[in-house]
Amino acid sequence: MKVDISVKIANVKLDSCIFNASGPADETLEELKIIQSSASSAVTMKSCTKEVREGNPKPRYENLEYGSINSMGLPNLGYRAYVRFSKALKKKSKKPVIASICGMTLEDNVQMFKAFNSSPVDLIEFNPGSPNTIGKPIVGYDPGEMDKLLEAVSKVSKKPFGVKLPPYFDLVHFEQIADVIKKYPVKFVTSVNSIGNGLAVNPYTERPLIKPKGGLGGIGGGYIKYTTLANVRKFYELFEGKVQIIGVGGVKNGIDAFELILAGASAVQIGTAFLQKGPGAFENIQNELKEFMEVKGYKKLTDFQGKLKPL
Ligand code: DHB
Repeated sequence: MKVDISVKIANVKLDSCIFNASGPADETLEELKIIQSSASSAVTMKSCTKEVREGNPKPRYENLEYGSINSMGLPNLGYRAYVRFSKALKKKSKKPVIASICGMTLEDNVQMFKAFNSSPVDLIEFNPGSPNTIGKPIVGYDPGEMDKLLEAVSKVSKKPFGVKLPPYFDLVHFEQIADVIKKYPVKFVTSVNSIGNGLAVNPYTERPLIKPKGGLGGIGGGYIKYTTLANVRKFYELFEGKVQIIGVGGVKNGIDAFELILAGASAVQIGTAFLQKGPGAFENIQNELKEFMEVKGYKKLTDFQGKLKPL
């Protein structure tokens, strides 16, 4: 039986629903080329800012028993580099390229959206805030601020775009943020960013594992899978098919990916697992997803996408 795991996100065809999350190993052109030549169905680039950033002091990423902690602080080469990289990547292959924009101000975001209008990127993932920018609150937790930013970028963007969201934990917050998003031409949400401001310590040295913010950093990987599932499910219900959902957070095998799609995701990004296992992770996860679909008798994603049954 032939299993089809292709999907369209905002009308952009992806040969499979599995691709890289913004963040891990996607800052330089060399790294992006590795993703391009892997089985990842798209190349998502590192979140960019207007100017080059060195990021936070090291150590700023550590693997944990079931995941990761990071406080990178947005190290990136500045948006001009990613406009250039998108052109270089598109010369090599048709694989979709996704820009991730994470400006420090509304004006920076508007300027970067305009710049990517005249680039060959297929999609833009607007990341209104990293949990690791020192002195800056997580924008996704402020619906009023989200509204202002989405209004501004919606006016200028000629590319289809989506929004990367932090995880929410209170049911009323899902509704508040969904109501804001529904006002604008947002094609997809990417749920979830890392769970902000966790703390990992070494009991022997009695010190934090990472240096920035007294050791606080975003938690990713297996620890967050159930939060991801809940966020995907709630937004799937609230958007009623009008906004697609890309699930990200804690996927390390094909069955994890299946679960997110069952909850309502149209596609699934891989972050920590890519960093820990290398680019072979994309192919492995795709093959495992296909195998599990075969076991279930499913031929395509829409046979089960969003169809979580009541208990
Ligand atoms: C960084 C972390 C994030 O979770 C994010 O969305 C953007 C940037 C960082 O620390 O580099």
